[in-house]
Amino acid sequence: MAKIFIETPRLLLREIIYKDVQRIFLLDRNPEVMKYIGVKPVSRPEESEETIKNIRKQYQENGIARWAVIEKKSNLLIGWSGLKFLREPINGYQEVYELGYRFLPEFWGKGYATEAGKAVLDYGFIELNLDVIYACVAIQNVGSDHILKNKLGFESHGTFVDPLDKATCIWYELTKEKFNKD
Ligand SMILES: CC(C)(COP(=O)(O)OP(=O)(O)OC[C@H]1O[C@@H](n2cnc3c(N)ncnc32)[C@H](O)[C@@H]1OP(=O)(O)O)[C@@H](O)C(=O)NCCC(=O)NCCS
Repeated sequence: MAKIFIETPRLLLREIIYKDVQRIFLLDRNPEVMKYIGVKPVSRPEESEETIKNIRKQYQENGIARWAVIEKKSNLLIGWSGLKFLREPINGYQEVYELGYRFLPEFWGKGYATEAGKAVLDYGFIELNLDVIYACVAIQNVGSDHILKNKLGFESHGTFVDPLDKATCIWYELTKEKFNKD
């Protein structure tokens, strides 16, 4: 049984398992989902299997990584959300926790990114007792930018260029103090 970490009114957040490969492949191969991510959509399920392997390695090494988001009413994997421990530097930051999320387009516009994101932040600040959580977003990704800034309360700390695709990205930070106040 895959371990469930969080339950919200409409969602379950649980570890990603190898059996999720077809649903993860739907995300990874979708050009709309991958539009602002900095890497091309994949073309073979084996590539998603490799991604799952990498995520499961992070569970072992870091105790945390992105989690599957399951819509309770359909019992379907609709995306992923969660904290990644950054071992490689991004924008000069290293060994910090970063919030990320991706959802299948048919589930966009229902408030799921916000609902999952808030629950993940709660877990990070309360269960993991983190002082700060980071996030970054390509400047053109206005939807995700709106979520980070206006729905989740992140504060922007300038821009940087993503070395993967040379996109200009906004660097966001949210402190435990600010999270508790909101
Ligand atoms: C960005 C993404 C996660 C949004 O997911 P979602 O579940 O539709 O988001 P929510 O329903 O929680 O939306 C919250 C708010 O953002 C707004 N929003 C979402 N997508 C938007 C878009 N493309 N343009 C403008 N606003 C958008 C919603 O209208 C809503 O605003 P409101 O509550 O003020 O009316 C989803 O589009 C996605 O998976 N995109 C591809 C992957 C990606 O870009 N991930 C983030 C990388 S940083």
